[in-house]
Amino acid sequence: MSNEQSVPVVQIVNEAGRRRTFAVISHPDAGKSTTTEALALHARAITSAGAVHGQGARKGVTSDWMELERERGISVTSAALQFGYRGHVMNLVDTPGHADFSEDTYRVLAAVDCAIMLVDAAKGLEEQTRKLFAVCRHRGVPVITFINKWDRRGREALTLLEDIETHLGITPVPVVWPVGGAGDLRGLVQASDTEQMLRYTKVPGGTHAALEEVLTAEEATEREGEAWETALEELELALSSGPGYDQEAFEAGKISPVFFGSALSNIGVKLLLDAVVDLAPSPAARPLAKGGSREVTEEFSGLVFKIQANMDPAHRDRMAFVRVCSGVFERGMNVTRAASGRSFATKYAQTVFGAERTVVDTAYPGDVVGLINASALRVGDTLYTGKKAEFPALPAFAPEYFAVARPKDISRSKQFRKGVSQLDEEGVVQVLVSDRRGDQAPVMAAVGPMQFDVVLHRMEHEFSSPITLDRLSYKLARVTDPEGAAELAKARLTDAEVLVRRSDNALLALFADKWHLSAFQRAKPDILLQPLIATAD
Ligand code: G4P
Repeated sequence: MSNEQSVPVVQIVNEAGRRRTFAVISHPDAGKSTTTEALALHARAITSAGAVHGQGARKGVTSDWMELERERGISVTSAALQFGYRGHVMNLVDTPGHADFSEDTYRVLAAVDCAIMLVDAAKGLEEQTRKLFAVCRHRGVPVITFINKWDRRGREALTLLEDIETHLGITPVPVVWPVGGAGDLRGLVQASDTEQMLRYTKVPGGTHAALEEVLTAEEATEREGEAWETALEELELALSSGPGYDQEAFEAGKISPVFFGSALSNIGVKLLLDAVVDLAPSPAARPLAKGGSREVTEEFSGLVFKIQANMDPAHRDRMAFVRVCSGVFERGMNVTRAASGRSFATKYAQTVFGAERTVVDTAYPGDVVGLINASALRVGDTLYTGKKAEFPALPAFAPEYFAVARPKDISRSKQFRKGVSQLDEEGVVQVLVSDRRGDQAPVMAAVGPMQFDVVLHRMEHEFSSPITLDRLSYKLARVTDPEGAAELAKARLTDAEVLVRRSDNALLALFADKWHLSAFQRAKPDILLQPLIATAD
């Protein structure tokens, strides 16, 4: 097939080179929304704080699906925000904050080239931060650390760094150091230039850019005295105990450049954004499932990393978020879905900005486009034109919670089946089936129990088929094969069962706990019982 791209290769190289596609990961409340808004403010992508998914936007969002998020105070939808900065195109992809949705986060992280890990200065490394970090590590996504809320009382900077090193096993390398302890933020000093201090004056009223003054070292000593001296000493100490910044080590996930600041006062956020431009890698060749890789200059290819239903309740549509991996995406082009070989028309392509959508005409590697009416698409799909491309499947996480779903009203079995099937395709839960259990009683498998709340809510409100979910006592899943399934059936264990995962026909053997599993393994050492990816670190 000929190379049909209307855009010259050199332009694709340039466009890809100026893209930075990244996500912010954090424990809820560490300041992800505030940071997102502050980052976008520097690029003037939004006119007032709250337009992304803060309170301002929440008022305008009407989806009943989002209502659940609002009740819970969590964000489980994914949207991508695009803005220009220093001649670059920044694609900020939203991640769900709650660890129960870390399977979603994993998929989002398949679509980015870098992550910013937010740490609350007072709380240090929190549980979800650790889990999300583990996901980054697993995916090989380089991580920039931002220690937020330095305007409030918190821990010692050096202690926070030590924690990162000890608990995450990554070497923190300070790029920016705070002048003044947590709660007494006077300004920042950059490791690359200790001859000057960036002094900030807070502007009241939230995420507005703080006023910045540049002081020479002498002026800093004169005006900030001990705070300045201490900052220099601590910075030197932190740098002398580590290897220093190294781009290769950062991209390999061995070190994490560290920044300090306050998203709310908009201090240090610009330096963070600069770091994304200067340090984060631009889109690069992506490995293919069957070996080799797709260069960014080859014809279009993209990865479906998120399916979102009901973003607009008036239309009840389904949107697939696609990360462009190579070539140029042009609205209206026909692409091929690798899994089925079928053609998919992209007449309705959009970018999604918070709750707003705009039509997208052209997109380059690193960009995210939303395809509406994407009922034929599944999470993990590869789309392409020209030479076939298929990216490795997004691995499913190890489910730890299992429940049988049954329609409350059996006369609504059609709606029930449709709902179950759609939730499965979106990857909201893993749906497991077996002949024994039948169509009307599939097993829902989840990484976190909150996924069940989403299932209950959506089955009732969206598919008009309220369900019951009866929890099963299994805790562990292992991938097995037909032989393993037969052996397990023969063993007639009361606390084990083999089910088929609908999305990929994998055979999952479920066990009540690790003792039952190891007892079976001891009895049948040759049986395939392969672990899935765990979310816990
Ligand atoms: P999230 O998306 O990670 O859940 O966090 P979000 O940005 O919503 O921030 C959580 C809370 O932390 C908010 O306060 C927010 O104002 C505050 N916050 C974020 N960054 C900073 C910071 O740099 N310094 C300080 N002092 N606070 C910060 P809230 O009281 O829960 O909400 P709100 O009423 O202020 O919106």
